Amino acid sequence: MLRFNPRRGVALRMDRVGVAIAALLLGLVSVLFGMGRAHAAAGCKVTYSVNQWSNGFTANIGLTNLGDSLSSWTLEWDFAGNQQVTQGWSGTYSQSGKHVTVKSLSYNGSLATNASTSLGFNASYSGTNDAPTSFKVNGTTCNGTPGGGGPTDTPTPTVTPTDPGSGGPHADNPFSGGKGYVNSEWSDQAKNDGGSAIANQPTAVWLDRIAAINGVNGGMGLKAHLDAAVAQGASYAQFVIYDLPGRDCAALASNGELGPTDIGRYQTEYIDPIASIMSDSKYKNLKIITYIEPDSLPNLVTNVSGNTATTQCQTMQQNGNYVKGVQYALNKLHAISNVYTYIDAGHHGWLGWDSNLGPAAQLFATVAKGTTAGVNSVDGFVINTANYSPTTEPYLPVNSQTRASTWVDWNYYVDESSFGAAFRQQLISDGFPSSIGMVIDTSRNGWGGANRPTGPSTASDINTQVNAERVDRRPHVGDWCNQAGSGLGARPTAAPASGFDAYAWVKPPGESDGASSSIPNDEGKGFDQMCDPSYGGNVRNNNNPSGAMPNAPLSGHWFSAMFHQLLQNAYPPVQ
Ligand code: BGC
Repeated sequence: MLRFNPRRGVALRMDRVGVAIAALLLGLVSVLFGMGRAHAAAGCKVTYSVNQWSNGFTANIGLTNLGDSLSSWTLEWDFAGNQQVTQGWSGTYSQSGKHVTVKSLSYNGSLATNASTSLGFNASYSGTNDAPTSFKVNGTTCNGTPGGGGPTDTPTPTVTPTDPGSGGPHADNPFSGGKGYVNSEWSDQAKNDGGSAIANQPTAVWLDRIAAINGVNGGMGLKAHLDAAVAQGASYAQFVIYDLPGRDCAALASNGELGPTDIGRYQTEYIDPIASIMSDSKYKNLKIITYIEPDSLPNLVTNVSGNTATTQCQTMQQNGNYVKGVQYALNKLHAISNVYTYIDAGHHGWLGWDSNLGPAAQLFATVAKGTTAGVNSVDGFVINTANYSPTTEPYLPVNSQTRASTWVDWNYYVDESSFGAAFRQQLISDGFPSSIGMVIDTSRNGWGGANRPTGPSTASDINTQVNAERVDRRPHVGDWCNQAGSGLGARPTAAPASGFDAYAWVKPPGESDGASSSIPNDEGKGFDQMCDPSYGGNVRNNNNPSGAMPNAPLSGHWFSAMFHQLLQNAYPPVQ
């Protein structure tokens, strides 16, 4: 898993964000229209629906091609009033007076006969906000709807809702008021390796490949975990949804099993079975917390242009499969009333810089607005997943002097509490409800032990001062693999602070982030030099040492030396 990206990331152009749900609604449209007609040259249907407030609105557009196959499309309409597009997705938007033109992108231009795609935009207006009365695709007026003609205000359904069960009202904070599921597979390992004192803590279960749904190598699958959670009388259980096509596009240690174009397999072989199991009514009283696809959307913010770009991240931006996959997961999981969705939002040393924070929040908002339930499909955001950024830096102030230090490097945030609070505000400004809550993964961000600073420094050199004050002992905040000196962080806690739903142990302590040398395997795990202690770094950690511990096994495998170190350097200490 990659965990960092520097501030030099270039703001993403929103018109290129892949938000299209290329939902093939074959069968929705009558065979009377298009199919089988040798000369069915052109034809289209457009649906247009809005969510509006006093001076602005979000529009969702469904476009169905009723003519011959298209390799690209241009959609046009005239606004009825003074509406002005401020931001659009799944197309390149331009507006001249009342006239709007949207051109398809590389990944959503191809539309077979009867195929549909979706797009949308945010706009301002004053007075009335009547819908446009006519749309054109590639110059042809869209009037070929099976049910009538012209635009309608009925949104096109893009997913089949999962049986929601009867999980009762959806709680604001699913962590509150009950105990978390303790995964016996992790707990047994912890107990057998000297960790009895913490072995009763709830940790997340990573569904890191299709086979994990049924259990790998005779281990527990999703059903077995949910049954065990019910048997434990747990009120919540946590799962990491982690199998996107082209996974971990800026690192190698957790490249997954699905190639960049395998979105179909992700949907039908991964998300669908997970949703089907989670929607079983026997789990209706359990709050099922899902952490959605660590690293994926943050990588689209920082690793698609400039000197931090990777070819694989550019591919995933261009083909839209991270966005489509996350939207599909949100649609399926949010539809189950006792399932809770938290999107991964990097950490302060990744998205904290201004040039990344704003674009990241916008990307998340755009992705969420493209789901069936819009921003309401998201319960919150998880930060610091499997990373080492401290919850608080007690002795390191953020001011004009410290910001100029090599360590802080102009970031406004040096810890997850301040970053999480600011990021949450930005997300709310971008349209998320104020009910969203942040979760911090505190499994390995304690930084206790003998080397933990105990107070402010009076050194006159700013770098000496900052280095003496920071509890985060990494060589660089971009280091993410098996960090030497790290310790367990705060034990899982519900509602630790305003705006924060929980401190949770998302990465099970003791599991490796990646092998320190190449190990052949059939898990799709590569060798990332950031896990090699002798590696001198790259542009993403500003050419610093990797900070990794030696002799690490493959990511996800038990790493005993690391587990002992985490216990040793726990903060608060393990009693
Ligand atoms: C690995 C997964 C593992 C998870 C939790 C990830 O980095 O790729 O295989 O389940 O960490 O340890």
